[in-house]
Amino acid sequence: MSAHLEVEGVSKAFGGLRALSLCSLSVEKGSIAGLIGPNGSGKTTLFNVITGYVRPDAGTVALGGTPITSARPDEVFALGLGRTFQLTRIFARLTVLENMLVATQRKEGWLRSVARPAASSAEQRRAIELLDFVGLTRLASARAGTLSYGQRKLLELAYVLVADPSVILLDEPAGGVNPTLINEIRERILALNSEGKTFLVVEHNMEFVMGLCHTVTVMHQGSAIVTGTPDAVRSDPRVLDAYLGGGEEQDDDVAVG
Ligand SMILES: Nc1ncnc2c1ncn2[C@@H]1O[C@H](COP(=O)(O)OP(=O)(O)O)[C@@H](O)[C@H]1O
Ligand SMILES: [Mg+2]
Repeated sequence: MSAHLEVEGVSKAFGGLRALSLCSLSVEKGSIAGLIGPNGSGKTTLFNVITGYVRPDAGTVALGGTPITSARPDEVFALGLGRTFQLTRIFARLTVLENMLVATQRKEGWLRSVARPAASSAEQRRAIELLDFVGLTRLASARAGTLSYGQRKLLELAYVLVADPSVILLDEPAGGVNPTLINEIRERILALNSEGKTFLVVEHNMEFVMGLCHTVTVMHQGSAIVTGTPDAVRSDPRVLDAYLGGGEEQDDDVAVG
């Protein structure tokens, strides 16, 4: 067993709402793991807990055996866990290259210098190299706000790669992205994975998830109810129930867990 990322019994309530309920999940080193589940099942909250944005009420998170349950986002990031956001967080008024230069500064902490980052020439080279990797070189001097949704996702991926994370969490990388760019994103993930990077990917596009991921975990009402290969998950009746069962009010008759 070489779980690189280990989530154990994590619970989190917002007021009376239980967003996560004894959620456990482990991601093997060097794998691409998918995380699916109906809207509101807790996927983004789990990402927020793992990356230090939300403090869980109970449970633990470990990265490469190191406990990170109470680490802050910048500490988690510094330990080699990068993430992208469901709604991208790039700086719309900066150019694509300037966004990347901000990322080179960010390695030393959150947004040390946003307006005119003073990047070294090595950092500039690295930024350009990564833009090249995601296919955005020709847009380097375009304002990030003018990019298409898919191009923003690619920029955010390049942005995260600046810190050379060992694990990358992607929140809906294909959401709202056109098919050509979805393919581009898939290819980049596969290339990074072949270099040894571990992925945990939340995505509603089933074709994307099933074609890309080695294992898939299904969330339902804040818990991980099934983990298996894409084929096993696809044919698991609990998964269908989770999707058809809908919200809490309707699914008293759904057997889960
Ligand atoms: N900061 C928050 N405050 C209050 N409720 C939240 C917060 N974040 C998430 N929730 C609630 O927690 C539940 C799980 O949400 P989320 O993790 O975003 O689900 P998913 O990403 O699977 O769609 C939802 O009911 C959502 O409204
Ligand atoms: Mg979400």
